[in-house]
Amino acid sequence: MERTFLMIKPDGVQRGLIGEIMSRFERKGLKLVAAKFMVVSKELAESHYAEHKGKPFYEPLLTFITAGPSFAMVWQGDNVIALTRAMIGKTDAVDASPGTIRSDFAVHTNLNLIHGSDSPESAAREIANFFSPEQLVDYEHTIQRWI
Ligand code: TYD
Ligand code: MG
Repeated sequence: MERTFLMIKPDGVQRGLIGEIMSRFERKGLKLVAAKFMVVSKELAESHYAEHKGKPFYEPLLTFITAGPSFAMVWQGDNVIALTRAMIGKTDAVDASPGTIRSDFAVHTNLNLIHGSDSPESAAREIANFFSPEQLVDYEHTIQRWI
């Protein structure tokens, strides 16, 4: 089964949307594997967003993502990377489909509430960046067989 790295960004935390967003993934039937409430350091932010280095929004993005606490998570499930990207919606809220997190709650591209891994490779890299192996909790998620 696949795993992904999701993170409610500082705007989502400040707007009180942790519960709303977590609830969507729980109701989908996904399995929570790890969670951490933390302020992302400059170093961690640079490595997390390394693919965007040099782009015009890179420096503002680092400033934003380190500006307050974020809620980092690992979720597991069949096809979880594509499923959660679909639930999050397109980067720009204007393009995001109604019913997605970004369409329902975001207005600006730079304040788009949540990060989600976009491929198995980025998921593996991002999970390892934020969590140590022993922080990934192994347990039986009994509803899985009904999903
Ligand atoms: P990106 O990986 O393209 O988007 P996504 O989060 O949907 O995978 O970009 C990373 C973040 O950078 C994005 O969530 C918000 C910010 N960003 C901007 O501020 N302006 C932009 O024009 C783009 C493309 C991204
Ligand atoms: Mg991305």
